[in-house]
Amino acid sequence: MTIEGNDSVELAQKFGTPLWVVSEATIRNNLRMFKRVFEKNYPKVRIVYASKANHSPAIIRIVAQEGAWVDTVSLGHLRLATLAGVPPGKIVFNGNNKSETELETAVEMGIGAINVDSLDELETLSRICKKIEKVANINIRLRGSYAKSAEKDAAFVKDNTSESKFGIDIPSGQAFEACRRALTDKFLNLRGLHHHVGWTAYPPLPYNRDLDLIRIKNQVEEVVDFALQVNEKLGFAPSVLDLGGGFRKTRPQGFGPNRVMSMPDLEEYADTILDVITDMNVSKTLGQPELWFEPGGFMVTDAVTLLSTVGTIKMVESGPGKGKWVAVDSSAYLFVRKLIFNFYHNSIIANKALEPLTEIADIVGPICTYDNVGDKVRVPRLERGDVVATLDQGSYCETISTKYCAYLRPATVLVNKERADIITARETLDEYLAQYRLPTWLSAP
Ligand SMILES: Cc1ncc(COP(=O)(O)O)c(C=O)c1O
Repeated sequence: MTIEGNDSVELAQKFGTPLWVVSEATIRNNLRMFKRVFEKNYPKVRIVYASKANHSPAIIRIVAQEGAWVDTVSLGHLRLATLAGVPPGKIVFNGNNKSETELETAVEMGIGAINVDSLDELETLSRICKKIEKVANINIRLRGSYAKSAEKDAAFVKDNTSESKFGIDIPSGQAFEACRRALTDKFLNLRGLHHHVGWTAYPPLPYNRDLDLIRIKNQVEEVVDFALQVNEKLGFAPSVLDLGGGFRKTRPQGFGPNRVMSMPDLEEYADTILDVITDMNVSKTLGQPELWFEPGGFMVTDAVTLLSTVGTIKMVESGPGKGKWVAVDSSAYLFVRKLIFNFYHNSIIANKALEPLTEIADIVGPICTYDNVGDKVRVPRLERGDVVATLDQGSYCETISTKYCAYLRPATVLVNKERADIITARETLDEYLAQYRLPTWLSAP
C-alpha cells in the first residue's frame, strides 16, 4: 500500500509505529475542490479551515498556502496558527467561553473576526477593547429556533441539544440585541453573522443524507431571514455570512458513526446553500456578502492514515470471545470518536494489500478493553510484524488522542510525493514522566 507514492511499510520502518501519515496532496485537493464547487455559483467564497479538526501547524500552513483562513477556538490554537505563519487578519476565533486573556490576545493581534457567542461576551469584549483602545472585528454567532426542522425531525432536535450552548438566541431577540449593541459600539466592527450546527449524524440517530440537506437548508434560511430583518430594522447589511462547517465526504468503505455509507456530494451541499441565497433574494437587499465556510472534517479526514505493527496474535477457540485476536501497537484511544460514537475506520494490511482476505480478526490495542482498532475485520493471513493501515484519521483523531496507560502518542509525518518529514514528534517517556511531582511529605515506601 502506498501513500502519495510512498511505500507505507518503508514509512513504518523508517519512522517507527504507531505513525500517522499525512498526504499533503489530499489536503490540497480537498481545498481546491471545495473552493471550485462553491465558487462556481457564487463569487465571494472564503474557506476558514476549522483547526479544531487537526491543528498541526504543518496542516494549517498547507491550507493557508491554498488561500484559506483559519478558525481557532483557544489561545493554543491562536499560537499554533501564528506558528504556522497565518497572518492575524486571516484568523477567526470561535468558542462559547473565551477567557478575557484569549479575547484580549485576539484583539491585540488584530484577528479577522471574533465570532461573539453571547451577550455576556459582547460586553466583556467591548470593555477589553475600550481598555486597550483597539477595535475588534466581530461576527455575531447565532442560535436559531430550528422550528422547521423541529416540526418534522425529532432526531435533529435531540441531537442538537448538545449544540445549544453555542450562539446567541434568535427567537428571544437576544441576537438582534447583540447586533444593535455592536453597531452602536465604536470599539466593535460588526462584519456579519455566523452560524454552525455541524454534522448532525451522531448516534443514536440513523444518518439520513437527504435529511441532512434539509436541515442545512432550514438553518441557512433562518440565518438569511435574520440577516434581512437586521438589515430592515437596523439598516445594517452584513458583509459576511459565516455558515460554519459540518461537511463530509462519502468514503468507499463507509465512515462515521455506525459506518455511514453515503453523504451528500459537495455539489449538493453547495446547491442547497446557494439556492437559499438566490431564492431569498439576498443580492437585492444585502448585495453580495462574502460567504464564509468553516470546514474541518471535509479537508483532512481522508488525508491521514494510522500505521501500526502487528504483535501478539491469539486464537480463542471457544466461548463468547471465540475468534482471532490480533494485537497492534496503536489503539482506539488515539481516535476516541470510535469509542464515543462508534466511528468506523477501515483497516488494510499494508504489506499484504493484494492478498485474499481469508480470515476475520479483531484488531486490538495493547491498552485496555474497548481499544479495538478494528472489529471483525476481514484480513489476509496475519503474522507478527505486518503493518496495519487504518484510514480516515485526519479529523478529530490526533487532536483528541489520549495517553491512556502511559502509552504515548505517535509521531506524525507529512508526505509530499517522494518526500516525508516529521510534523509531530513522537512523545517520549522522559517528557511524560517529567510532568509528575511527588510532594515532599510522601516519603518513599
Ligand atoms: C464553530 C465551528 N466551526 C467549524 C467546525 C468544523 O466542523 P466540521 O469538522 O464538521 O466541518 C466546528 C467543529 O466543531 C465548529 O465548532
